Amino acid sequence: MDFKQQVVSALSAATGDDLSADQIAQLLETPKTSDLGDYAFPTFALAKVYHKAPKMIAADLVEKIDAKPFEAVKAVGGYVNFFLDKVSFAHDTLTSIADDPEHYGDLQLGAGNVPIDMSSPNIAKPMSMGHLRSTVIGNALANILTKVGYSPIKINHLGDWGTQFGKLIVAYRKWGSEADVKKDPIHYLVKYYVQFHEEAESDPSLDDQARAVFKQLEDGDPEVHQLWSWFREESLKEFTRIYDMLGVKFDSFNGEAFYNDKMDGVVNELEDKHLLKSSQGAEIVDLEKYDLNPALIKKSDGATLYMTRDLAAAFYRHNEYNFVQSLYVVGNEQREHFDQLKAVIKEMGYDWADDIHHIPFGLITSGGKKLSTRKGNIILLEKVLNDAIELAKKQIAEKHPDLANADKVAHQVGVGAVIFHDLKNERLDSFDFNLEEVVRFEGETGPYVQYTNARANSILRKTDTQPAADVALTDPAAWDVLKALGDYPNVIARAAKAYEPSVIAKYALKLAKAFNKYYANSKVLVDDAELPARLAMVKAVSTILTSALALLGVEAPAEM
Ligand code: ARG
Repeated sequence: MDFKQQVVSALSAATGDDLSADQIAQLLETPKTSDLGDYAFPTFALAKVYHKAPKMIAADLVEKIDAKPFEAVKAVGGYVNFFLDKVSFAHDTLTSIADDPEHYGDLQLGAGNVPIDMSSPNIAKPMSMGHLRSTVIGNALANILTKVGYSPIKINHLGDWGTQFGKLIVAYRKWGSEADVKKDPIHYLVKYYVQFHEEAESDPSLDDQARAVFKQLEDGDPEVHQLWSWFREESLKEFTRIYDMLGVKFDSFNGEAFYNDKMDGVVNELEDKHLLKSSQGAEIVDLEKYDLNPALIKKSDGATLYMTRDLAAAFYRHNEYNFVQSLYVVGNEQREHFDQLKAVIKEMGYDWADDIHHIPFGLITSGGKKLSTRKGNIILLEKVLNDAIELAKKQIAEKHPDLANADKVAHQVGVGAVIFHDLKNERLDSFDFNLEEVVRFEGETGPYVQYTNARANSILRKTDTQPAADVALTDPAAWDVLKALGDYPNVIARAAKAYEPSVIAKYALKLAKAFNKYYANSKVLVDDAELPARLAMVKAVSTILTSALALLGVEAPAEM
């Protein structure tokens, strides 16, 4: 049963035609503490209609509302406070979780394909913290959208094309070694690239060579193509190691190169629709009426650009997947690029431009400073993950020296800590990265949530009594835990609508805190009539914490 709906119906009946059910649902608040009830209805909105003080209206409404099915309905100031019937709430919530643990919280908010452009690192460069953010946010969104009915398609739009590959190939031919690249691909490829820029300062002819080589690549020269393809493969091997550690899989690795032979269609259409203009030798689409800078489609040497490949990709995805929404999880600094992308498609006359959503996110800093490869303030992802695993290993050795699978659990905890830390922050917030903070077992961390789940599991292992969700649970101390459990479907809906995994992470922390507080103050394993019901609640807590963590892409070991 939907308990919020009960409150809405009662208020609907009492207010008659003065407010619609939707308006009531919008107005309903959730008090900060349970002693103010479970839902509170502010009467201020009605003061104008009734020409009465909110306090009077609250008192009148309480008169009109039948106390059943609630435990109590009280007027407090300008609010009507509803106290739900705790026993039936506990019963309904615990049985629905126990009956179908996997699917509790599943919703049908929509259906259809949703390509998610995520991760998308650049070949021959190290994967950055920004790419980590895109990877874990994209992955969590894919899980959340699946839970509410959509079919996400995870696309890694690799940065594997562009003039920089001309430079890289020239540099490799001059100074590179095959053995070095095989040994430590990204390290050496970056080195050649940096050397190219240094030497090009005194020898500008290098830039001309690079342009010529990139042209050969675009035209399909076999030797150049072979080198490019090898660099791509070696880089991808390194990225794959990180994806494997994170447990993230992709449905497609169609990167920028994939669109090399798919751009003519878009460029021709832009021409046919008279949208292309020459400006200083380049071809642009004017976007003044959108208050945006022009979109660059072709450079003066005829080379196509990031934007052109993204246009081709947008059309490809539209045709291939017939999407209902198309998401791009890319840093906030590319906001204008995606505004332009949508505007160009709109200019071409396609309304599905409105189904394209850029999902931006903030920067990660370190010691308060922006991370930058050039300035040497760089965090290497693989090292971060390995360090986190080491730290987790140490803490586990202290807390649980005889744990079986300690290495596997350390991996789940270390990697989970990094992912959780990233996702508990609101997407657009920038935050500072400090490994020790991230892997702590106390405070607002992933390990804290995982540890709470392990604790719930250990309680269940200590007894032979079977959990039973249909036994009455009247213990008032359990109320905050039960309410949090019942709230899970609403939380998922909120996270999905706002494309905001932090809603799930914050919820997991709240549920874990409520459970730990309950556990600190109440005896669970006492052999009385409510024991099976308490165990059902403990089990439900583990089910929901595990499910919430899984939505975030974090594993939940049963022991740690
Ligand atoms: N490779 C780009 C970068 O690292 C991100 C690509 C994002 N996706 C896209 N379709 N433009 O900045």
